[in-house]
Amino acid sequence: MDDATTTTPTADRTAVEAAVPAATGAPDLSAARVAVIGAGNMGGPVARTMRAAGVQAEHLLIANSSQASSERAADELGATAASSRAEALATADVVVLGVKPYQILDLAADLREELPAGAVVISLAAGIRLAQIEQALPEAAAVVRAMPNTPISVGEGAVGLMRGSAVTDAQHQLVHSLFARAGVVVDITEEQVHAFIAAAGSLAGFGFAIIEAMTEEAVRQGLTRDLADALVQQTLRGAATMLLESGMHPAVAKAGVCSPGGTTAEGYAAFEREGVRAGLAATMAAAADKSRQMAGD
Ligand SMILES: NC(=O)c1ccc[n+]([C@@H]2O[C@H](COP(=O)([O-])OP(=O)(O)OC[C@H]3O[C@@H](n4cnc5c(N)ncnc54)[C@H](OP(=O)(O)O)[C@@H]3O)[C@@H](O)[C@H]2O)c1
Repeated sequence: MDDATTTTPTADRTAVEAAVPAATGAPDLSAARVAVIGAGNMGGPVARTMRAAGVQAEHLLIANSSQASSERAADELGATAASSRAEALATADVVVLGVKPYQILDLAADLREELPAGAVVISLAAGIRLAQIEQALPEAAAVVRAMPNTPISVGEGAVGLMRGSAVTDAQHQLVHSLFARAGVVVDITEEQVHAFIAAAGSLAGFGFAIIEAMTEEAVRQGLTRDLADALVQQTLRGAATMLLESGMHPAVAKAGVCSPGGTTAEGYAAFEREGVRAGLAATMAAAADKSRQMAGD
């Protein structure tokens, strides 16, 4: 039975077993071997968070579209450039597929001969269902879909994990352990992923756009760019931290800073009048709808 909580570590335990935390103490990922096929804007942060979780540099192999690109990414991420995709895959316990969605099924089909038995495949591709990837890979391959966002590279991100039918409890625990330093890590269904993309996957990008727009206005109001950057970023981080730490409802926190007849109340009236709330909702809905469309849902 694949019960992650009952695995007994032994001297010759596998990396999957070793990653299962004992009743006390952190999971040991020092033996886990990971191949990242496509360490770009998203595969890179995924590799970085796995290093932070305890995967050794020599066990984290990067295979990009060229040797030069693999070496560049490996240097930047504190990982190892594979000399070929086959080398990266040969001993992998975990294979991360970080290529673009339109490439992933062809790549999965190419892996039919190369995927080691017992390896778990993590797909980062938006809009490509578990069943499609499972069908392209060898029969009964263990596949997890992960929907991360880029702030995982600083331990402040979010990852939604969708578990394929052949994934054992120990493999599922291993994948959770690999994302243990990413931020918030949750199991979600494929039906929930569209909302998750709106609220986390794509939201990081919207956050950057909002910060950029607010910084530009702060500069227009007369602040130096350095000061504007620091004030906007620190204030938004502080607002989020206040809510996270207090559990306060955001509407209550907002009411707390809107003094009668004051500056914030005036600014907030413009926020509603100018349709910022509706614009934010439309932005998130567009991302979720695009995800549904890509998945054919
Ligand atoms: N960006 C996000 O915020 C985000 C969020 C959630 C999920 N995702 C998902 O993450 C995946 C990657 O997106 P991205 O934005 O990271 O794309 P990206 O920056 O273009 O990265 C793609 C990577 O794939 C590599 N690659 C391309 N063809 C390859 C091949 N034949 N063999 C090996 N490696 C190959 C590229 O290598 P070279 O650099 O050498 O070309 C690059 O490192 C997508 O499936 C996307 O849906 C992205």
